[in-house]
Parts: sequence; structure tokens; C-alpha cells
Amino acid sequence: MKPKEIAKGIYDVGATDWNVRDFHGFSTDRGTTYNAFLVVDEKIALIDTVKKEFSDRLLQKIAAVIDPRDIDYVISNHTEMDHSGGLPDLLRHIGKEVPVYCSKMGQKNLSRHFREDFELRAVEDGEELSLGRRTLQFFETRMLHWPDSMFTYLQEEKILFSSDAFGQHYAGPEKFDDQIGEAVMPYAKKYFANILLLYAPLVKGLLDKISKMGLKIDMICPDHGIIWRQQPDKIIDAYGRWCLQEPENRAVVVYDTMWHSTEMMAEAIIAGLESEGIPAMPMHLRRCHRSDVMTAVFDARAVIVGSPTLNNGLFPTLGDFLSYFKGLRPKNKLAAVFGSFGWSGEATKLIRDELAGLDLELVSEPLKIQYVPDQKGMETCFEFGRTIARAMR
Ligand code: FEO
Repeated sequence: MKPKEIAKGIYDVGATDWNVRDFHGFSTDRGTTYNAFLVVDEKIALIDTVKKEFSDRLLQKIAAVIDPRDIDYVISNHTEMDHSGGLPDLLRHIGKEVPVYCSKMGQKNLSRHFREDFELRAVEDGEELSLGRRTLQFFETRMLHWPDSMFTYLQEEKILFSSDAFGQHYAGPEKFDDQIGEAVMPYAKKYFANILLLYAPLVKGLLDKISKMGLKIDMICPDHGIIWRQQPDKIIDAYGRWCLQEPENRAVVVYDTMWHSTEMMAEAIIAGLESEGIPAMPMHLRRCHRSDVMTAVFDARAVIVGSPTLNNGLFPTLGDFLSYFKGLRPKNKLAAVFGSFGWSGEATKLIRDELAGLDLELVSEPLKIQYVPDQKGMETCFEFGRTIARAMR
């Protein structure tokens, strides 16, 4: 069956991973896609491959358009294995020396990953490659989100093959933004909050660079999810906003609990926030996936973290969350800490210490309550919520 022709002579030959539910720690409730694009001109170029398990499907799709041995150039925009894993099988199948165009770091990283004798050609930022009637141009996008990342731009059609940027972990019947509409945005935001947030300043710099260059973009083809053909500006504008990290005036209470005492505290803190007009939401760390928690935290001005003390330490899910949260280094947030304890009560101090190195404003000293909160304890939690709400004004 012939793959989708997304523009004249340009085919989406990637694969849909309908059933993946965990993408290296990111919950993918709707699966994902590994997009790869075949550009058929006087010369034929393949832009990116797929995850190794899907190499056969990539080859089948290519073979429905051309003989894969007719591929002249392979472009590797990014070394991560969801886009390069199919490279060895592809090159073996082609059975002749085909140059793989990549960034300078891509050259290093691909050889480190595969240790095979690929013909890797490192390109300069802005370098062009003629396919005959059309021209590809490469732009380095280092640390967006790996050192090797780059964009490939098809000048004549004004199509940007943007690697992970502007992507979403979403597999569905739709292929284009005009087919899915607004429903794609939560997936795009979750992707940004969990994959790109750490690099938000670099993303902003890149967007500014594209804007200054006056690069016209009629279509954006990311390596995951929906292709932006109707409103490529919509996702560029959204990235511009997300990079600023200007959250809404709302709070997320991230917690775990052993015998519901920390949970009772969470509920009273939320009641205090709401009494001051601040919308607040609890997220129990054994009920909510860390990547969904991170997306909610991304949107919120205040993140309030609670843990009971277990074995003189944090409840284990808090260790997981804090490690993930710290790695993404969100900015422009207020933070507060709370928790119940039996006799030693180290958890709240440990959380505070974990948050200390981040660009967060701690609203007050951690609040801890021994055993089950009584009426007075619940009132203290309520007031704690109100204090946080007032600090958010
Ligand atoms: Fe979709 Fe960074 O790989």
C-alpha cells in the first residue's frame, strides 16, 4: 500500500507505534509515531528512520514508492534511537554506500551508537544539498534536545523537517493539524513540558533565529505525531509562549500518602488555596504518571509537594518525582512543602533540600504534622494554603 503523499513527491514512510504506553518514562496513552520522510526528486533523500522494531515497515513503505536501493542520501536529523534505530537495517538493505548527512555531533554520536562503517557526512549550519529541482538546507539545533539535533528545510516547498521539535506523542487516524484541530495541543504541550522544558532558553533562541532569518514555513513535519500544514504558526507561537514559562495562577499539590494523613493535609491546603480564589488540584503520585504531573506543574504558578516520612526518608515516589522535576528545571514558580510523620520526620526537610538548588521561591518553612492531623492541624494546613495563595498575588 502506497504511503501518504504529504506534498507532491514527499511521502510519510514512518511507522505508527499504537501500543507503546511508556516512552522512556513518558506515558504515551495514545501511542506515538516515528515519522520519516522520503523526498523523491532527481535524487532521492530519506529524512530520518524509525525505531529498530519498525525497520521492516519503513522498508515496505519506501518500497511501495521506489526501490530502496535507489535512495541517494539519508538525512539523520537526530541520533536518538527512535529515529536512527532503523538505520543499520536500511543501509544493509540498500547494500551500497549511501552517505548519511548529519550534524557534526551527529557524526560522532551515530558512530558511537552503531559502531558500524557508515559513510557519515557532517554538514555545516546552513549547508545546502541539491536534489535536482529541490534543495535541502540543514540547520544545527544543538541541545534541542540532544547535542546532535538539527533541522532539515526543503526550500522550494518551505517544509521544515523539525526532528523532535513541535512533535507530540500521539497516534491516531489523523495525519494533519486541520484534521485533529485543537485536540492536538495538550499532546504538544505535554511533549514540550517533558522533553524540551530544560532547553526552553535554547528553543527561544532558535525561534528568534528563524524569525530573524525570515525563513518561510508552510509546513512543519516533526518526527512524532501530527504534521502542521494548516497552521504551522500555531505551534511556533505556542512554543514562543511556553518558552517564557509564564504559568497560570493555579496550584498543583503533588503528594503521596501512607495512611491518608499527608492526603488530609493536601486536602486542607487545597481548601485554603481555594478560599483565596486559587484553583488547586491534588496529584497523587501513585495515581498520576510523573509526565502528567509535570505537565500540570508546567501550567501552574505554585507547586506544593508533600510526603510522609518512611524509613527516615522520602516516600519512594517522591524521590522519583523530584529527580524528574529537578532535571527539567522549571522556572517562575512558588513552592511549598508539607508532610505527616510518626517519630523522626525527615521527609519535609529532604524535599526542601532537593528544591533548594532550583529557581523556585519557597513560600514558607515546610509544614509537618505528627501522626493524624487533628482539627487544629487541619486548620493549620488550611492557613498554610491561604499563605501560599497570598504569596501568589
Ligand atoms: Fe524522538 Fe529525541 O527522539
